[in-house]
Amino acid sequence: MVLLLIALLPLLPSALGGLYSLSRSWTGDQFFDGFNWMTFDDPTKGRSNYVDLATARAEGLSYASGDTFTIRVDTYNVVDASSRGRDSVRMHSKETFGDGLLVTDVSHIPTGCAVWPAVWTNSRAGPWPAGGEVDIVEGLYGINENYSNDLFSLHTTAECRMPQNHSRGEGRVGNLDCRGGTGCGVYGRGRKSFGVNFNNQGGGVFVMRRSMTIGFAFWFFSRGDTIPEGLSSGANSLNEADLGPPLANFPNYNCDFPKYFDQHEIIINIALSGGWAGGPPWNGSKCAGDVGWTADNFVDKNPQAFTDAYWDLKGMRWYEESAAAPSTTPRCKRQKRVVESVRAE
Ligand SMILES: *[C@@H]1O[C@H](CO)[C@@H](O)[C@H](O)[C@H]1NC(C)=O
Ligand SMILES: *[C@@H]1O[C@H](CO)[C@@H](O)[C@H](O)[C@H]1NC(C)=O
Ligand SMILES: *[C@@H]1O[C@H](CO)[C@@H](O)[C@H](O)[C@H]1NC(C)=O
Repeated sequence: MVLLLIALLPLLPSALGGLYSLSRSWTGDQFFDGFNWMTFDDPTKGRSNYVDLATARAEGLSYASGDTFTIRVDTYNVVDASSRGRDSVRMHSKETFGDGLLVTDVSHIPTGCAVWPAVWTNSRAGPWPAGGEVDIVEGLYGINENYSNDLFSLHTTAECRMPQNHSRGEGRVGNLDCRGGTGCGVYGRGRKSFGVNFNNQGGGVFVMRRSMTIGFAFWFFSRGDTIPEGLSSGANSLNEADLGPPLANFPNYNCDFPKYFDQHEIIINIALSGGWAGGPPWNGSKCAGDVGWTADNFVDKNPQAFTDAYWDLKGMRWYEESAAAPSTTPRCKRQKRVVESVRAE
């Protein structure tokens, strides 16, 4: 099989390690133009009161400073249990997107007990999970090294599955069945792709490749290590082969992707308590303390506990596959890398 793929490569330059051109870019206050601030009730039944843009700006929960864009949670008010919860932010991109590369450059991930932040993409059609959900940055609490691994995952309707061998690089394979609320996922293993450890390294860059033909792949690069050229600077073109093997790979062996995924919007939010963050992980976290807080009460009564519950985004960029390889790409080098990544699968 490996030999066959090598033989076909010159005919299929974009089948693996494709070339991409910049299509959309958001840094600093450009996020205000590219996204809508949602105000519906917390879909995970937690204690996030998602506020509109005017409220978020007035309360200092959404602002830009140079290239950095920040969203955060209210840290001042004790919240009544009969209210919708603590003020927080949930942004949805105005546009939807098909196949391409999403680069998310983050310098701070929200951390704290009951905090459940995510950068993800989701179908607008639904009902969930019809049309699919893709989680690029997701995790709980982020309070110490035990909460420092990002979870990359897909959520679909029944019958989409991943093979056991689908993590290349250093990821730890989780569930293989992509259906429903748990979905199929791969955890980062280096204890710095999420939470305080991520933040202490100055953050890093997450990349998602979505292809309805060959599947999804995810990369994570810590700022404490080397970030491939072009990812942070917002280069006009990117070569997937230059990213190396992905940390998490979701191939098409047992999933007919076009059947499970439609156009997606990009979502950035900070959930508080709710389905996952207020569920079984809460009791294992020691966050209940001597008081024995429930996750919901903890969110309502402890505004000071949310000072680190903020996203600092250095930029987000969307790339789409370009038709042909630029003639400047050294062909031998590209092919060698592609072959290595086939073998590593
Ligand atoms: C992380 O988990 C390990 C194993 O369960 C435990 O020994 C350690 O104390 C935990 N670290 C913190 C900071 O809670
Ligand atoms: C957490 O522990 C409390 C007290 O022991 C218990 O009442 C509650 O059901 C537990 N919650 C979960 C989600 O396991
Ligand atoms: C991975 O699993 C798939 C499907 O189960 C199989 O076709 C493929 O050959 C496997 N690859 C390796 C390297 O084991």
